[in-house]
Amino acid sequence: MTTETELLPPDAPGLTRAADLLRAGALVALPTETVYGLAGDARNDRAVAAIFESKGRPQFNPLIVHVGSLAEAEAIAEFSPQARAIAAAFWPGPLTLVLPVRADAGISELVTAGHNTVAIRMPEHPVARALLTEFGGPLAAPSANPSGKISPTTAGHVLDGLGGRIAAVIDGGPCAVGVESTILSLDPPRMLRPGGLPAEVLEEALGAPLELGGNAEAPNAPGQLSSHYAPGAAVRLGAREVGADEVWIGFGPGCAGADLSLSPTEDLVEAAANLFSALRAADQLAAERRARGIAVAPIPEHGLGRAINDRLRRAAAPRP
Ligand code: TXA
Ligand code: MG
Repeated sequence: MTTETELLPPDAPGLTRAADLLRAGALVALPTETVYGLAGDARNDRAVAAIFESKGRPQFNPLIVHVGSLAEAEAIAEFSPQARAIAAAFWPGPLTLVLPVRADAGISELVTAGHNTVAIRMPEHPVARALLTEFGGPLAAPSANPSGKISPTTAGHVLDGLGGRIAAVIDGGPCAVGVESTILSLDPPRMLRPGGLPAEVLEEALGAPLELGGNAEAPNAPGQLSSHYAPGAAVRLGAREVGADEVWIGFGPGCAGADLSLSPTEDLVEAAANLFSALRAADQLAAERRARGIAVAPIPEHGLGRAINDRLRRAAAPRP
């Protein structure tokens, strides 16, 4: 299917148009504080099926449900007292909770891909919140990129990957966080994906160390590092210097001569916000120069560095 993808402004008429499209079962990409999401009505089987179809996403990989209020979340998932406390502390924000799905949740079974749990989050971005209010229901939304490719942090990135395949994208400017939400399951607390809310912050709130693991990017292949976030060029990690024929993505003041820098001042928040744009820009440079690959400077494994390194390891993983 090819249609012209509408580029909508983040104002009242743009949001009204977006909500009308969603009610008709069409797909709309929307800005969140983490990355752009490809939204469809979570209660509409055809809309949810169209999300998988337009991304080329394997059907066994379940989607995150986005809600505008705690009441909506509680109508979909079972909240324990601990889940309620975590939601109260970190929502709206870059945290997804995996909770038991309610029998009367009313969402498409394609969203959970047959699991008895549902991944749910309340985004903080004002445009996402305004759209959820205007639409008045839950939105299923994976990142708005073709499956396996680099996640989008601008409306332009969305159009590059999915233009002509989706009804519209709302332009809310660049995403402030820049990496996807942290995914947490409870009983016991386990971080399924490092993301925009640092593990240390969650551990402090829980008062206990987090178990790590599961593999949220491939729930049926625990522990396997699957290729994801992949640029066209090969990626080499931990690069303290650049090789001949490589494009170098630096981090910190020690990377003079880097082609791009995630953060000249070693600021991990800035680095996360720049990550996906930098990978795209490096990929373009590599193609222009016919370079051998992309080399990325080492990133410390704390705070948002964990999410950055997770995405980089997947970008560097062997391709299928
Ligand atoms: O920041 C984000 O989380 C973005 C924005 C758009 O909200 N969304 C996002 O969605 O990253 P997506 O589909 O690219 O990643 C969702 C992840 C997948 O790795 C999926 O396996 C996992 O969530 N997931 C969904 N439901 C799950 C469940 N019931 N149990 C375990 N993992 C689940
Ligand atoms: Mg994704």
